[in-house]
Amino acid sequence: MNVLFVSSEVAPFAKSGGLGDVAGALPRQLHADGHDVRVVLPMYPRVKVPGREFTEVKTGVEIQLGPTTVRFSIYRSDMPGTARNGSGESLPVYFIHCPGLYDRPSLYGQANDEHLRFATLSWAALKVCQHLAFAPDIAHVNDWQTALIPLLLHTRFAWDKLFARTKTVLTLHNIGHQGTFPASVLPETGLQDSAHLFHQDELRDGRIGFLVTGLLYADAITTVSPTYAREIQTPEQGVRLDGILRRRNDVLTGILNGIDEIEWNPQADHHIPAAFSSTSLDGKELCKQALLKSAGLPYKRDVPVIGLVSRLVWQKGLDLVVDVLPRLLSQHRFQMVILGKGEHRYEDFFRTLQRAFPTKVHFDSAFNEPRAHLVEAGADMFLMPSRYEPCGLNQMYSLRYGTVPIVHKTGGLADTVWPFDERSGRGTGFVFEHFDDAGLSWGIKQALSIWGSGTGDYRARWQHLQRNGMDLPFGWRHRVGRYVDIYRHLVPDAVMPPSSSPVSSSSSP
Ligand code: ADP
Ligand code: GLC
Repeated sequence: MNVLFVSSEVAPFAKSGGLGDVAGALPRQLHADGHDVRVVLPMYPRVKVPGREFTEVKTGVEIQLGPTTVRFSIYRSDMPGTARNGSGESLPVYFIHCPGLYDRPSLYGQANDEHLRFATLSWAALKVCQHLAFAPDIAHVNDWQTALIPLLLHTRFAWDKLFARTKTVLTLHNIGHQGTFPASVLPETGLQDSAHLFHQDELRDGRIGFLVTGLLYADAITTVSPTYAREIQTPEQGVRLDGILRRRNDVLTGILNGIDEIEWNPQADHHIPAAFSSTSLDGKELCKQALLKSAGLPYKRDVPVIGLVSRLVWQKGLDLVVDVLPRLLSQHRFQMVILGKGEHRYEDFFRTLQRAFPTKVHFDSAFNEPRAHLVEAGADMFLMPSRYEPCGLNQMYSLRYGTVPIVHKTGGLADTVWPFDERSGRGTGFVFEHFDDAGLSWGIKQALSIWGSGTGDYRARWQHLQRNGMDLPFGWRHRVGRYVDIYRHLVPDAVMPPSSSPVSSSSSP
């Protein structure tokens, strides 16, 4: 099938979180299965790393967004490591080069022109198709930044036969971000003639929402775990979109994210000092030593290390961590290695914690991908107490690296981590149900007690728990079939490639 895949971030070119991971790996898997995929994202400065080659495809493209004329060029590069599909061709990635909009130190939120930046991306993705004469069967768009595309196809691009059979899929990675702006910016979406097609209650209240517009016009809506798909239809977790999500429930599906099994593979990870697997865990101990050494913390084989790698934001449940960790650290034997960037209040907290427990806590205020791999490999446990979590990738990386997750039972965490049951020996992690201090304390203490409660070789029980999670089928090749099913349902007469990945049997690990 011809798939246009548009995202505000795509790993390895630009990533601030899991959206980047997914928007890199899912198109890669579709391409590997023989679909004709074109990926489009902005040309942020960080995209241009030495050694990466770009070809200018077209220059001087102009679009008129209300009073604003936006000019951009289109560049092309290859998705690394993708020349392996049947045709031997790489997956083409197209970049929208518009320095006035995208030359910023961060991917998001530097000025008051987010609506213009991502309306431009949405228009530009369709312009890329026109320039390439690429007729997408599916336009797969992600989160609010690209959610205007369905309406653009119904209106400003409806004249173009290239899109006559194009159906749209909108994937919700996080409905906490909705791209809501004052109604006064509507002309700068280039949809000024279509005001009547925006959500009328919002318009009356003086707002427009990119995400809500996508929810109105996408042919299919997916989100990144079955539990989150249910949660967002409730008033408690729908962030005011629950009504429209319930109305569109017939086209809403929860599909668990996969992980990139090449990038996250403890048997062949060039970011870690020793390889390991479920059948040979010795290398993991070397990774733990290396992690503690790099953190300047003392190593003791029997003291567990809890890792945390996260955007430091409200969503991630860090308020509980702030409440609970100082006491637990003073009462129990464990160490913590934290890697994250985000809100000052959390960064300040972790700095203070490190000062209070200099032999137990290390905090890196950084976004550092190699180090994220080392934390996943070297820690014994991984903490993810998210308030809500549409899917979450780190808990799956952790499971694969034998790093037992401690998670709040929400969204994708509930779908990927099964509570460990001491008696039966089944389960993959520690799952607390109530999002409060007692819940988190309980989760951490459970983990510490299982760690410490083995008799004889105290590791035996722990290793059993580690192994339960390490070989689960979390790769995209097990998941991609669910998306292809949706594509196929929308465009039943599309030509399918001769061999596709097996359709995943279920969303549970
Ligand atoms: P979210 O997308 O909400 O941030 P996910 O668990 O889906 O949560 O994905 C987070 C991704 O971002 C993972 O690949 C994780 O390793 C990465 N990440 C988050 N913070 C950092 C950091 N400080 N350094 C390196 N990688 C990070
Ligand atoms: C969002 C969510 C996260 C999810 C990621 C990729 O950033 O917060 O839970 O894993 O998108 O879908």
